[in-house]
Amino acid sequence: MAQDVMTVEDVEVDGSNPKGGIISVWTLNRPDKLNALNTESHKAIKKECARVNSDDNVRCIVIKGATPLEPREGKRPKPHAFAAGADISEFAGKDSDDVRPFFEDNAWEAVWNVSKPTIAMVDGFALGGGTELALSCDIRLASERSTFGQPEINLGLIPGGGGTQRLCRLVGYGRAMEIVLSGGMVGAEDALSMGIVNRIVPNDDLEEETMKLATEISKKSPHVTKVAKRAVRGALELPFSEGVLMERSEFVALFDTEDKEIGVTAFLERSDAEWVGK
Ligand code: COA
Repeated sequence: MAQDVMTVEDVEVDGSNPKGGIISVWTLNRPDKLNALNTESHKAIKKECARVNSDDNVRCIVIKGATPLEPREGKRPKPHAFAAGADISEFAGKDSDDVRPFFEDNAWEAVWNVSKPTIAMVDGFALGGGTELALSCDIRLASERSTFGQPEINLGLIPGGGGTQRLCRLVGYGRAMEIVLSGGMVGAEDALSMGIVNRIVPNDDLEEETMKLATEISKKSPHVTKVAKRAVRGALELPFSEGVLMERSEFVALFDTEDKEIGVTAFLERSDAEWVGK
């Protein structure tokens, strides 16, 4: 890769069981372009998604944007960003045949399909594909200076990374329509009141709060976090009565795992559960 468009740091989870658990922290690394997602970013994200799905050590994934670089002399500083969208410079002159293969195998869907818990740590602009990347994660924490939006309509486009669908399920039809049709920006407070983000955190505390949550999740049984994610996800995809049946079946199946016995015994003995992950 010519430039590291995304850096990956695997952070050890202190006290995780089974031993060796890690939180994989992915930093979108094009701060001069507000971390806009280009073809290389998509490739890097998809590659990491495949890796964490098959690496039993990875408990949780955190996605964030690189912080702005020191401005060059005479230049104004760039703003903080999670990702200011797909890289618009890659859209010029392209027709549908050019973009279809890329959009049929994209990073937003790869992140959505990660089997483990994912957290978007949003600090600054999350626009277009940036909002969509955050929406592909399970949980979103945002700093006070964050801004969301789907401005594709201003480019003669609509969201193409699942934004219309995921946003609608998260905030409801009317609000999703307003965001998509107006292309307007949504500040952190409004994003919180709509349910786009789980929590707003003071700018300087975002990293710590995000890692605290990732650590908390990572200390659960890695088998059960996957089952829990699958079950909650079912609520988006299944009719209600089928969803309830699916949940019951997942719940009952957990009674054949070692971790259920470990968790229940630890509660009864007032000790810490030492999960084995199966
Ligand atoms: N794709 C490619 N480059 C982008 C980008 C994107 N989505 N968003 C920002 N950039 C680049 C700018 O071209 C600029 O590059 P340059 O310094 O080499 O000229 C750099 O990032 C900084 O952006 P700039 O526009 O100068 O910052 P700003 O503070 O004036 O404005 C935004 C910030 C987020 C309001 C503005 O960059 C913007 O509207 N970006 C596009 C958002 C968008 O439409 N996203 C949806 C894409 S589908």
